[in-house]
Amino acid sequence: MELKLWFSLLFLHVIHDAQSSRGLWTADVPTKIPALQGSCVVIPCTYTYPKPASKLLNRWRGFWRKGNKIVATNLPKWKLNEEYKKRTQFLGNLKTRNCTMLLDGIRKTDVGPFYFRIEMPQYKSFSYTKNMVSIEVLRDPQPPSLSVKVDDDKVTASCSVSHSCPSIPPEFSWSRSGIVTRRSKKLNKWKWETMSTLTFQPRPSDFNKHLNCTVLYRGGKQAKNSTILQTW
Ligand SMILES: *[C@@H]1O[C@H](CO)[C@@H](O)[C@H](O)[C@H]1NC(C)=O
Ligand SMILES: *[C@@H]1O[C@H](CO)[C@@H](O)[C@H](O)[C@H]1NC(C)=O
Ligand SMILES: *[C@@H]1O[C@H](CO)[C@@H](O)[C@H](O)[C@H]1NC(C)=O
Repeated sequence: MELKLWFSLLFLHVIHDAQSSRGLWTADVPTKIPALQGSCVVIPCTYTYPKPASKLLNRWRGFWRKGNKIVATNLPKWKLNEEYKKRTQFLGNLKTRNCTMLLDGIRKTDVGPFYFRIEMPQYKSFSYTKNMVSIEVLRDPQPPSLSVKVDDDKVTASCSVSHSCPSIPPEFSWSRSGIVTRRSKKLNKWKWETMSTLTFQPRPSDFNKHLNCTVLYRGGKQAKNSTILQTW
C-alpha cells in the first residue's frame, strides 16, 4: 500500500474514534458546583469507555475519589474514608454508566476536586482524572425571591430558590396560612429551582402587613424574604 494512502486511512480511523464518544474514556461532570455549607449537593455524572471486545460485562465497581481517598462507592460493604463516611451516597447505576453521587453535610473543606474511577474486573479500570469536579462551598444561604399577585379575591405568593441538591430540597414556611404547593424544576445539569406557592383569600387585616417566606435549607440554614401586601 502506498504510504500516503496508509496515512490517510490511519487518520480517518483516529477521527472516527474521537467522534464516537462511546469509544473513549470520558466522564461528563460539571467542573464546578456551588453548594451551601451544611447542605448537600448531587454531582451529576455519566461516563463512557471503549467498547470491550468481549460482550460479557456484569461486574462494575465505582469509586469517587479525592486524591487517593475514597469518598463514595457503589459497593455496600466498603470502608470509606473517615472524613466522608455516612456523608456520601452513590446514586448512579453503573449498568447504565451513571456515576451520580450525593454529598451531604458539606464542610468548608469539601472543595475537592473529586473524580470518578471505574473498575471492570472482566475488562479494564480507569480513573477519570481529566474530568474533575470541584465544589464551591458557600457560607451564606441565598435569600429566596418573593413575588405576590393580588387578584379580586385571591392572593398568590411565590417564593423560590435555586440549589444543587434535588434529593433533599429546601423547605418553605409562610407567615400567613393558606394553600401551599411546592414544585421543583431542573435549570441545568446541577442547578434546580424549588418554588413554594401560597394562595389565600385576603381579609382587610392582611393588607399593609408583612408577608414573609422563610426557606430552610438542608442542614438548618435559613433565609427570608418579605413583602408588604398593598391594598389594590
Ligand atoms: C443518573 O442517576 C440519577 C440518580 O438516580 C438520576 O437522577 C439521573 O437522571 C441519571 N442520569 C441520567 C443521564 O440518566
Ligand atoms: C426578595 O424578592 C425580590 C423579588 O424576587 C428580589 O428582588 C429581592 O432581592 C429579594 N430580597 C432579598 C432580601 O433577597
Ligand atoms: C416578617 O418580616 C418582617 C421584616 O423582616 C418582620 O419585621 C416581621 O416580624 C416578620 N413577621 C413574621 C410573622 O415573621
